[in-house]
Amino acid sequence: MRLLCRAVFAACFSFCLSTGAHAETGYDLWLRYTPVEAQYQQQYKVTRLDAPAPSPTLRAAVAELNRGFAGMLGNAPPPENRAEMDGTLFVGTPTSSPAIAAMKLPLAALGAEGYLIRNVTRNGRKAVAIAANTDIGVLYGAFAYLRMIQSRQPITDTMSAPKTQLRILNHWDNLDGTVERGYAGASIWNWHTLPGYIDPRYIDYARANASIGINGTVLNNVNARAASLSPEYIEKTAALADALRPYGIKVYLSVRWSAPVEISHLKTADPLDPAVRNWWKNKADEIYRAIPDFGGFLVKANSEGQPGPQDYHRTHADGANMIADVLKPHHGVVMWRAFVYANDPKVDRANTAYNEFVPLDGTFRDNVVLQVKNGPLDFQPREPFSPLFGAMPKTSLMMEFQITKEYLGQQTHLAYLGPLYEEALQSDTYEHGKGSTVAKVIDGSLDHHAISGIAGVANIGNDADWSGSIFNQANWYVFGRMAWDPEISARAVAQEWTKQTFTADPAFVTPVVDMMMGSRDAVVDYMTPLGLELIMAHSHHMGPGPWDVIGPREDWKAPYYHRADAVGLGFDRTTTGSDNAGQYKGPVKEAFEDIAKTPDDYLLYFHHVPWDYKMKSGRTLWNELIARYQRGVDKVSAMQAAWAAQNSHVDAARFDKTAAFLAIQHREAIWWRDACLAYFAQFSKRPFPPGYAPKYPLATYEAMPMFASPKP
Ligand code: GCU
Repeated sequence: MRLLCRAVFAACFSFCLSTGAHAETGYDLWLRYTPVEAQYQQQYKVTRLDAPAPSPTLRAAVAELNRGFAGMLGNAPPPENRAEMDGTLFVGTPTSSPAIAAMKLPLAALGAEGYLIRNVTRNGRKAVAIAANTDIGVLYGAFAYLRMIQSRQPITDTMSAPKTQLRILNHWDNLDGTVERGYAGASIWNWHTLPGYIDPRYIDYARANASIGINGTVLNNVNARAASLSPEYIEKTAALADALRPYGIKVYLSVRWSAPVEISHLKTADPLDPAVRNWWKNKADEIYRAIPDFGGFLVKANSEGQPGPQDYHRTHADGANMIADVLKPHHGVVMWRAFVYANDPKVDRANTAYNEFVPLDGTFRDNVVLQVKNGPLDFQPREPFSPLFGAMPKTSLMMEFQITKEYLGQQTHLAYLGPLYEEALQSDTYEHGKGSTVAKVIDGSLDHHAISGIAGVANIGNDADWSGSIFNQANWYVFGRMAWDPEISARAVAQEWTKQTFTADPAFVTPVVDMMMGSRDAVVDYMTPLGLELIMAHSHHMGPGPWDVIGPREDWKAPYYHRADAVGLGFDRTTTGSDNAGQYKGPVKEAFEDIAKTPDDYLLYFHHVPWDYKMKSGRTLWNELIARYQRGVDKVSAMQAAWAAQNSHVDAARFDKTAAFLAIQHREAIWWRDACLAYFAQFSKRPFPPGYAPKYPLATYEAMPMFASPKP
């Protein structure tokens, strides 16, 4: 038996060597570096790598280039001088590389993180230069160069610098290894074996992030434990900071407001109490002794039961500024979350953040940045943009997106979030008239904010493929690329990602990118069409739950959001209702206020609409609702067909898993459609068109156990 195993292993090993094939677990993400086809070998040929590497970051750049060359071109180019040939790749800064210095390239506009890729002639020979002002800029340039080869683009002259400063992953990872809203296994941070053991996975994580320009990571959950600030955990955090530093990634921590009370038994956590301030000062000093380039703190305060300054009748600004003051000497920042909502049935949850934060505009220190979720509610498949964007000109605002798909089918459903991010970023706030997009608010250009940035709630775990599915990796990728450049298009990024993750063959790329681009709208249609929100199942948010009324808080119950009754459906957020529309500006406000002008996508978000209301399509609301749910299911069928046609382009493991997940998604789309329509039918009392009636009575859907869908 053992002999047989060995023979099989040997055969497999030699097959893999001879074909270059290896099992596609998804671990390599978009950095697969598979061999380029014969016709490209000459175009990308590198005869010599001239890359002095005196720093860990430059060594990382050289190692990555060599890894890419070995995989894609079959060899790592020799460093020795072969100046008589074309094809040298010069890499470095004017300080690290005499050759780059001699080229006198126009680097000034690149700033501290940008890079330049340039076709040059040196001593009469054709060469390419990857240059930057800083080592991290060189690393970003190296990844961009490898991206060109992986996507079979010509090596074109390129200058690129990030438009936002903070490009940060938020890990909602708990110290016990679980991940809040994580669907890709356990946390990648092994707090038990830190600081003693640096898992090579941390380095691959850093490589992946650097390849898309992510430069920060908040290691722990926003629902933070005080223990993450203990000396033991600071030591563990310092070990991770050391591992990630060569890749330009700073570490940050989420902090629990009551940490001084919990760790040091102070009597209060009042931000104006000198003992409390002193505690945070000492804690900051302790952290910076261990991690001199520590990024700062992320704070969830007075939200969903978390403690905060309001417990002491202080404002969010009092709290944020106290922390900002102790971080300031160390150049640290405070990312203060604006995700707050009161347990007050009289106040629309969508209004709360605006009500609480807009009056504080101008009162925050310059190293405070408010971290605002893209929509006013909570990472729904589609929400209007948060009205805070464009309403706080004197405060730095950063975007918070969710990369993990808490409300969009979690691990299994294929939903490419590029269009969601793009829609939010390109929304016009009209803060200074037309063109005042959210992108311009958060990149700081609209009001010249001191800090700019984007955070994404990570979808990373210790699953073999990091994100629970191959297509979920695209959401990590597009987050990073849009954080670097909020103006980049979702489609362009999908193309880049697809080429690197699978193949650059247009016969694959075109249909798969189309499939990805429509996938988020499919989810909207079969879960929450026409501006419905938060009708997911209780607490875990997987599957439908428009009937959910569990729990003490009105704003945690589904009927609070959909407001279905005998008259109609939807939440009146106009002046006759909660006046949430009044928090917007100009034509946006007018459109949301007026039912005739409100886009269908937001109709039920802003209006309580009669069941027989005539929609733009000519259908009644009831019939339109049915049509939208059906359209969502049909879109998933089309995605299944598009994927099935790609069998020959994809290795078996990744093809089969994606096909299986699409089948689950299809079954669950039917579940969503039927459960929601069965539920709303009791209010509409309108008939179903022939063939559209749900298969089971409502009670069957309501009684489904967690994570189980009825047979279609
Ligand atoms: C959502 C999510 C929570 C999370 C919260 C937040 O409500 O379900 O798990 O803690 O957002 O963003 O703080």
